Amino acid sequence: MPDYVPGLEGIVAAQTEISLVDGANGRLVYRGYVIADLAEEMSFEEVAHLFWFGHLPNRPELDGLAAELSGSRSLTQAAAAALDALPKDADPMDVLRSVVSVQGVRHRLEKPNVPAAIHVTASFPTVLAAFHRRRQGLDPVKPRPELGHAANYLYMLTGTEASPDLVRALNTYLVLLADHGMNASTFSARVTIATLSDMYSAITSAIGTLKGPLHGGANERVMETLLEIGEADRARDMINAKLKQHERVMGFGHRVYKTEDPRATILRRHSEALGRRTGQLKWYEISREVEKTMREDKPDLYPNVDFYSASVYHMMGIPIDQFTPIFAISRMAGWTAQLLEQYANNRLIRPESEYVGPPSLKYVPIDKR
Ligand code: CMC
Repeated sequence: MPDYVPGLEGIVAAQTEISLVDGANGRLVYRGYVIADLAEEMSFEEVAHLFWFGHLPNRPELDGLAAELSGSRSLTQAAAAALDALPKDADPMDVLRSVVSVQGVRHRLEKPNVPAAIHVTASFPTVLAAFHRRRQGLDPVKPRPELGHAANYLYMLTGTEASPDLVRALNTYLVLLADHGMNASTFSARVTIATLSDMYSAITSAIGTLKGPLHGGANERVMETLLEIGEADRARDMINAKLKQHERVMGFGHRVYKTEDPRATILRRHSEALGRRTGQLKWYEISREVEKTMREDKPDLYPNVDFYSASVYHMMGIPIDQFTPIFAISRMAGWTAQLLEQYANNRLIRPESEYVGPPSLKYVPIDKR
């Protein structure tokens, strides 16, 4: 029996061509392209094409995929009815998980395929924006076909077209988070599809996994911490107090990166730039003070992607409980690509557990216990 490895640290559970997380050198690579070089240039649609079709699109290919995505934004009738039936105070991650599941009811054991990947990816922002408007007592805003993935989500959320700066910042975020090796939600999606289940079931597993605060849920907790701190000059004392109580400071640390998460480097820049442009530099300044304190007290812990995404979203006017769902909007491109890859070269994923219970007990009938 091989040794038990808590958290499966260091275990290689798949081969992938989709992304490389180079933890030692702080690099993230999508199918050979270093993300730090592309994050500001590429659109989310280009990344999705790269993932699903294996190469960067030329202009007609990109226009074709953009048209397919924008033509697939509406929900199935059952999914729209499910969305309407959910309580207004539900957590948007639970809403996403539930609506995706309903969308899959007509697809039992269907092989993963690109049209299904396009539909789930395209319809996620519709679910989120419609839910947010409904809970505010507002009518949903119909998607605008000429707007890209990032711009259309912001439009459906607010009913007005967002400024190019905001669209660019959200697009960069969507590009940066689109895939990330064998992260926990991708693993659970792969485990599900490896039983020859279907894409909707696997995405449902992934959303449930992403939601947790040790994974995608961290960005919402980061914003709660920034709000609790309130002013940059309170950051040091409050972070020290948390560390003294052995609390985890959300947005720091990573299983794979042993240096700065390259996505955090880019988002730090966006946080500062957005802070200056929108007159909300305070959130960047608090974040910087938290980071400085953490680097002094815990030099091995660097900010991860969730740390600076919190201030970026907040300054974009996105409600806190939509932070993790937006992570899911982006990761949908990677999840679906990883599912196609797993299915194409599948073997059941079935690790073992080491039994540490009592070796042998004698059964005692119930009336003698
Ligand atoms: N604050 C304070 N201490 C920490 C933190 C933190 N954020 N992260 C790790 N540590 C300490 C931890 O207490 C432990 O110390 P000790 O050995 O003294 O008990 C040591 O560092 C190792 O921690 P671990 O939990 O064994 O490390 P891991 O590789 O299992 O966990 C992690 C990685 C990301 C779950 C963890 O760093 C963490 O909880 N971070 C906060 C949550 C967070 O930001 N999550 C987002 C991750 S990046 C986006 C994503 O992929 O979802």
